[in-house]
Amino acid sequence: MTVVVAVGAQWGDEGKGKLVDLLAERASVVARYQGGNNAGHTVINPLGEFRLQLVPAGIFDPKTTCIIGNGVVVDPGSLLTEIELLSSKGVDLDRLFLSERAHVVMPYHILQDRLEEQAKGPRSIGTTGRGIGPAYADKVSRIGIRVADLLDKDLLHERLEFVLALKNRMLTKLYDADPLSFKETYDACIEQGARLSRYVADTCLMMQQAVARNEKVLLEGAQGTLLDVDFGTYPFVTSSSPTAGAVCSGVGLPPTAVDKVIGVYKAYCTRVGEGPFPTEVKDEAEQTIRERGHEYGTVTGRPRRIGWFDAVLARHTARINGFGYFVVNRLDILDTLPTLKICTRYVVDGVETENAPVRLERCEPIYEEHPGWLAETGHIRSFGDLPPQARNYLERLAELVGAKLAIVSVGPRREDTIMILDDLL
Ligand code: IMP
Repeated sequence: MTVVVAVGAQWGDEGKGKLVDLLAERASVVARYQGGNNAGHTVINPLGEFRLQLVPAGIFDPKTTCIIGNGVVVDPGSLLTEIELLSSKGVDLDRLFLSERAHVVMPYHILQDRLEEQAKGPRSIGTTGRGIGPAYADKVSRIGIRVADLLDKDLLHERLEFVLALKNRMLTKLYDADPLSFKETYDACIEQGARLSRYVADTCLMMQQAVARNEKVLLEGAQGTLLDVDFGTYPFVTSSSPTAGAVCSGVGLPPTAVDKVIGVYKAYCTRVGEGPFPTEVKDEAEQTIRERGHEYGTVTGRPRRIGWFDAVLARHTARINGFGYFVVNRLDILDTLPTLKICTRYVVDGVETENAPVRLERCEPIYEEHPGWLAETGHIRSFGDLPPQARNYLERLAELVGAKLAIVSVGPRREDTIMILDDLL
């Protein structure tokens, strides 16, 4: 039995989609356990270039069962659009299953997300505007609508009547916005539910049965640990837990089922949206990395903020998730930089620390400098063939993260990969 979790180790966009796409051919099941269509997992493979938002990145392997777990919040319209797009490119979706327990992102959640952001003004989070926060808030407030509810006309009618009345009071009285029509919202839910019904299943049971049959299971995290609602840079976080700890509640497996946790890092840091970012770069390295790396948000198109590799936060995320292994993506983006920096400690209120304090905005990074390799790495397929400066940089990252370096990515395609350890799954 092997149950492996791939977790974003920074602020998201670390390249988890590529890792999952690579490992999926060895997995029987690939499942998402949190987040929603705020995620944008880019996969480039022989079928084309895809930006997956809800469908697990294992969907391209014809043998792999793909599960959208109960911990995910699902915008039905977005999922249906993604399904149509994938079908039109010849991807088989008969292996896709959606948890009946997953909560639905409703139209009022999207409105609420945008109105709340506007109301926060300078305190806005910079959300993706996909209604993710309000959907999770309603889940824990016990006024959410679940996927199973979309398939039950009477139950949906009764629940939506109550919830929409509350939401319309909020929209009109608090935000001075127009109310939503019950009939239109209800009809859309029923129509979307009918179209999604063939995918709806008891996915918790499916997961448990796969583990009982000793099948290989890959759990695909979305966003990153520094956006975790508990361990991230609160309040500038998402509303779910991208950490390995959320797997159990997100798909219905016990903690004892998880064998390996793989941390996915970029060779540098990026962040979309607001919030503290101690190693943020504001010089020519920023432009070089953004342009070479096309560092623009997959979902919103916003330019990503760029920073040096932050080993203090890298250790923080490694410990929270229990990374035994880690992946470094986008090494090639650094090919042209003469000097690289790694933040190894912070100064907080005049005191040096190697640990991540709760308030990152007060941290001054202390860097060590490494010479760049000033050579192309995109064609390299073995660790030994990398320039010595690149090997030193990666070995230093492994020392600082405290896990085994398993894979280095030197380009977006499947083949642009250096496999160091080949027994991850
Ligand atoms: P939300 O998840 O849309 O509520 O956004 C909350 C914060 O998480 C914002 O800073 C977003 O930019 C960020 N965020 C959400 N999803 C992703 C992602 O998949 N990659 C990177 N940042 C994300």
